[in-house]
Amino acid sequence: MKKVLHVGCGQATLKNLPLGFQDGSWEEIRLDISPEANPDIVGTMQDMPEVESGSMDALYSSHNVEHVYFHEVVGVLQEFKRVLKPEGFCVVTCPDIQLVAQKIVAHGIDYPLYNSPAGPITANDILYGHSDSIKHGDHFMAHKTGFDLKGLAQRFEKAGYPLFKGKRNDSQISLWFIGFKAGMDDDLANQMFQTYTRLSGRPVL
Ligand SMILES: C[S@@+](CC[C@H](N)C(=O)[O-])C[C@H]1O[C@@H](n2cnc3c(N)ncnc32)[C@H](O)[C@@H]1O
Repeated sequence: MKKVLHVGCGQATLKNLPLGFQDGSWEEIRLDISPEANPDIVGTMQDMPEVESGSMDALYSSHNVEHVYFHEVVGVLQEFKRVLKPEGFCVVTCPDIQLVAQKIVAHGIDYPLYNSPAGPITANDILYGHSDSIKHGDHFMAHKTGFDLKGLAQRFEKAGYPLFKGKRNDSQISLWFIGFKAGMDDDLANQMFQTYTRLSGRPVL
């Protein structure tokens, strides 16, 4: 079985991951800072000593990297790279703050933009973290930084990924990236982007 480290999993499990992870060949290892998520590993994405270097075929992080400070993001992406096998890849998705900014200009900061299992999500929740969770004492749910397509691409570059692909998903107000630990054929990288993210079409980066 191939191994995917699901970082900042929350309540999500393998069945919530993009279709590429659903072909029966993947085993999921879940990691979260919150014991309430019932993860295999309780830990923080900045430093994952429980996960051996070069041990994972893939890493998946959804709505997670915005929970660390701007200056920590490159270190987090390097930590993701450390745990990957030489041919491994990571998939990162997070809010698209450029689009959120456009929504704020159009509708204001407290306008509900979409519904989540936790209830309606406003631009305020996307910028600063889910307010109801923070109100109940889960301060790790606060958002400490934000990304647009160019900004997250720069972080992947600084973290030393030889190849990465990224694209905006306007309907989800999110960014999707795939980062490879080693270089590979560009067509194959584009194909893997479509297999392991929720986006069809070629990535723009
Ligand atoms: C918005 S939720 C996303 C949950 C899930 N990945 C999803 O997309 O539905 C953010 C998750 O990141 C976790 N988290 C926050 N800071 C973290 C950190 N430093 N290391 C690991 N997980 C963290 C939270 O506990 C929470 O489960």
